[in-house]
Amino acid sequence: MANDSPNGDFGTTKDWCIVPGPASRDLAVKISEHLDADLIDIGFKLFPDGESKITLLNKVRNRPIILVQSAYPPVDRHLFQALILSHKLSEEGAEVYGVIPYLPYARQDREFLKGEIVSMRVIARLFRSVGMRRFTTVDIHSVEGLSNFSIPSYSASAVPLLAKYLQNNFKLVNPIAASPDFGGSARVEAFSKILGIDHLSLEKTRDKATGEVQVKPLGSDVSGRDAIIVDDIISTGRSIQKACIQLKKSGANRVIAACTHPVLVGNALEKMHNAGVDEVIGTNTIPQSVSKVDVSSAIAEHFKTLG
Ligand code: R5P
Repeated sequence: MANDSPNGDFGTTKDWCIVPGPASRDLAVKISEHLDADLIDIGFKLFPDGESKITLLNKVRNRPIILVQSAYPPVDRHLFQALILSHKLSEEGAEVYGVIPYLPYARQDREFLKGEIVSMRVIARLFRSVGMRRFTTVDIHSVEGLSNFSIPSYSASAVPLLAKYLQNNFKLVNPIAASPDFGGSARVEAFSKILGIDHLSLEKTRDKATGEVQVKPLGSDVSGRDAIIVDDIISTGRSIQKACIQLKKSGANRVIAACTHPVLVGNALEKMHNAGVDEVIGTNTIPQSVSKVDVSSAIAEHFKTLG
């Protein structure tokens, strides 16, 4: 999914260098291996008051730099680290290609209620202001979010990697894939197509003021079937919890939750397991115990098309 604008010359062969942000060293190393790119190290210190100090340890002048920094919680700290690193890199004369695998505030990509700030737009402007020439993320919450960027932007997909992982690691019985809401219909359809299985979308409503989630009963029978709930983000786990309850009521056997970004706030895992979720699988856009799927190849593939 891309939003390409004419702000750039991307037709030349790139001698990529990777700069790992403090939040994403492991992922950055993996991307550098796929691209056979140099890794430029940084010095990092977190002061007792929460301020970050980052030092660039090598020269970057005129080099195309892929800055990798996923902005998972603490989101504002990780975002700010991406901003100051990008600022420094562009000040030093590098072409900065920002990779923010987990992009926070992507769900606030429009004004749902009067007076709300479109945070996504602010972030897009900040990235540009600190010299990012191109922006890449993974499974952005909605493609419309990319329209907030005035630099070329791209959302790589982890869905094929998640599908393959499920196929290779589970003996699924008459499986069916489920999206917890209509917003995820295209995602679950893509996932099910790869596995050649059925899919459905549950009807989820969220109170825009309180955030309270409700999921309506299925209206179809999934007796004896293994269900895989596919989502972009698992944050509090409420969406998966409610979806699992409805799938179980309709007869589902095992329930597996697969997501790109396992944010897993507080007791999210416990909440989902208590509702009957057997397994939670995520990717390494966020390092968690459930991050079994490596997205570095999906990110690297995108850069190969630019080189
Ligand atoms: C919302 O539409 C997203 O796709 C996810 O379903 C949602 O962000 C998950 O959040 P939580 O785990 O807090 O329900």
